[in-house]
Parts: sequence; structure tokens; C-alpha cells
Amino acid sequence: MATQIAPHGGRLVNRWLRGPAREEALERARRLPRVRLDAREAADLEMIGDGALSPLTGFMGQADYRSVVAEMRLASGLLWALPVTLAVSRAEAESIREGEEIALEDPGGRLMAVMRVAERFAYDRGAEAARCYGTTDPAHPGVRRLLRQGEVYLGGEVWLLDRPPAPFAEYRLTPAETRAEFARRGWRTVVGFQTRNPVHRAHEYIQKCALEICDGLLLHPLVGETKDDDLPAAVRMRAYEAILEGYFPRERILLAVFPAAMRYAGPREAVWHALCRKNYGCTHFIVGRDHAGVGSFYGPYDAQRIFDHLDPAELGITPLFFDHTFWCRTCGAMASPKTCPHGPEERVALSGTRVREMLYRGEAPPPEFTRPEVARVLMEGLQAAARPQSVET
Ligand code: ADX
Repeated sequence: MATQIAPHGGRLVNRWLRGPAREEALERARRLPRVRLDAREAADLEMIGDGALSPLTGFMGQADYRSVVAEMRLASGLLWALPVTLAVSRAEAESIREGEEIALEDPGGRLMAVMRVAERFAYDRGAEAARCYGTTDPAHPGVRRLLRQGEVYLGGEVWLLDRPPAPFAEYRLTPAETRAEFARRGWRTVVGFQTRNPVHRAHEYIQKCALEICDGLLLHPLVGETKDDDLPAAVRMRAYEAILEGYFPRERILLAVFPAAMRYAGPREAVWHALCRKNYGCTHFIVGRDHAGVGSFYGPYDAQRIFDHLDPAELGITPLFFDHTFWCRTCGAMASPKTCPHGPEERVALSGTRVREMLYRGEAPPPEFTRPEVARVLMEGLQAAARPQSVET
């Protein structure tokens, strides 16, 4: 069997208790103070538990947090792009002692994990926003969330007891499971694709360009929390099933979900996404135009340029950069400024907002932009979601 890419930091973390160890921790957890997580924290906790955030074994303590915010490195010096933190109110923090165990519950109040609180520390929201998001503007969804969360971070190791009951069970593969599947299929090179938007022809084109040079593709839509106007993950997943069926060599694609919440941190999130996909066993990772961007907070290629400052050996996974891709009417094909000599007036390009408006109206975007099979799924899904609850059976 071919050797696989090493997880970040060298070892795949597994903090997921099973069997008697889980039973014993469940028993203990009943008597522990409980802290409720928000959707992003619960997603991070699941990913710490199953190793997607290797080498993290818990929510960050002060030394790691400060070093990541200031220098994109853990205190050990290892490259790491974004804080992974648990925020509580000052009052809640005061009720918890350092060294004490607490139980962590998901946003619905279900027990998820136990955590040994090693540290409680105050932090500077403005500094975190400026360094990680490149802005302190509350119009940025990541900054807005940061400004609303509790004033104290709790750091310490966690042990996952149960993942939150989540949709897409058959697609919820852990890094150990995706790695095993890559090995079973004999893939030595695997390209990871992050996405939070409905699949369109530009996505398909860059995925297929990457498939020309890699053995397989991990299609890895993010299904954690996204901003309100992004399309629901369930609809996006159905669209993926439709496009895979009609347009991809099925045996060269593994469709699985990425549980994380979107941060919209642009360049830093691109690096974070790449490191996570390395943990899932990918050797390559696609970074296209405005990866993990929002509004006009980042330049279209900022998320690619950040990689210029990183040591490829330390990063481990190879980024594959793509320019803005579109359908060119004169070429009669998907293209980018790198491959097409024609002017912008020849391009079929639509903004995400425009596409969403069309879909909600029941109007299919042009087939050069969205495959008709995908447009049908998206329109049905959005219209069903917009229907009042009482109509649903
Ligand atoms: S993201 O927030 O997950 O990055 P999205 O789902 O739109 O958003 O993008 C998924 C990936 O495709 C990202 O790497 C992004 O840069 C890339 N991408 C999206 N649209 C285009 C396009 N028209 N041209 C080139 N790359 C694109």
C-alpha cells in the first residue's frame, strides 16, 4: 500500500471515546458543570475529536492562541492559520475553576464531550479581528460573530463522547475513514475541494482540471454554519449528487462533508482549509478565486498570495491555484484569462447574489453557468425551503 501524506504535526489525533471509556466519561459528565457551545464551537469540537484539526487536542490555551493570532503558528512553532477557541461570558468563566472538568453540550443541549479546563483568559477582539480577518468592520460576518461572543476563552483538552446528530450521516466521514477509502481505491494523489456554494460550471471545470493530474477528488462541501443568505447545505448536497451522476466518473470522486462552520477569513481560512484537508489525507488542495471570501473584504487572489509566504515542506499539502474561470462564448468552452484571448463581453459570468435571486424566482441560470440538472435541484430545494412550515408534510 502506498504511504499516505502525514497528518499535520505528524500524527492523526483521536479524542473520540468509545466503549467502557465513553460509558465512564458519560457517567462522570452527569455531575459536571455544563457549558453550551454555539454551532461553530460544536463543529470545531467534532473535528478536534476525529482528528480533522490535528494536532489540536482541545480548545486553544493562551500561548497557542496568541501565537496563532500574531504569527500563524502554534506555540510549538508549527504552522496553524486560525484560532480554535471556546468563548464564554465572564460570569460563566468565574463559575469554573482552572483544572476542573466540565461537560460540553451542543447548541441543542445534547452532551457532546468532556473538557479539562486548563486556562481561562481574556483576549483582545480587535486584535483577533484585525489579524485573522484583516478587518475590524462588523459588517464582516466573522468579525460580527467575534464581537458578539463571550469575553473569556476556556482552553484545555477535550474528549468527544458523541457527535451531534447531524444530517448527511452517510457522507460524514472522519479523516481516518477518508484515508482508508483513498487507500482502498489505490489513490496516491488526492485533490481536496472546499465549497460552500451551489456547484456551478466554474467549480466543475477546476475540479476536472485537477482530476487531470490527480488520482482522485475529495469533494468536500462545508456543511457547518454559513451566513444566512448562503444556500442550505442539504440543497447543495442534492445538487452534488445530481452533477456527479451526470457528469463525473463516479469512481474517481469521493463525496464527503466537511463539518466546519465558515469563518469567511479569506486568506487565513484558505490555509486552514488546506491543513484540515491534509488531515483527511489529501495531497493537493484547490484555491480558486476569492477562496473563503465575502463581499469585497479581500482581493480576488489574496487567498493564493498568502501561500507565497509559507514553506511548502511545512505546509505539506500542495495548493493548486486557479484564476477566474468562466464560459467563453467565442471559445465555446470553459476558460480563464490564462487560456482565453477574448474580452470580458464574451464571458458568461454571474454573481452569487444574482444566481440566488434567479433560483428563488424559479428561473434557471444559463446552462453555460449551471448544469440544467443542478439548476432543477436548486430551484426545487429553494422553493421548498421558502414554503411556509404548515404546507410541509
Ligand atoms: S468558498 O467560500 O468555499 O471558497 P465557493 O464554494 O464559491 O466558496 O468556492 C469553492 C472554491 O472554488 C474556492 O476555491 C473558490 O476560490 C473557487 N471558485 C469559485 N468560483 C470560481 C471561479 N469562477 N473561478 C475560479 N475559482 C472559483
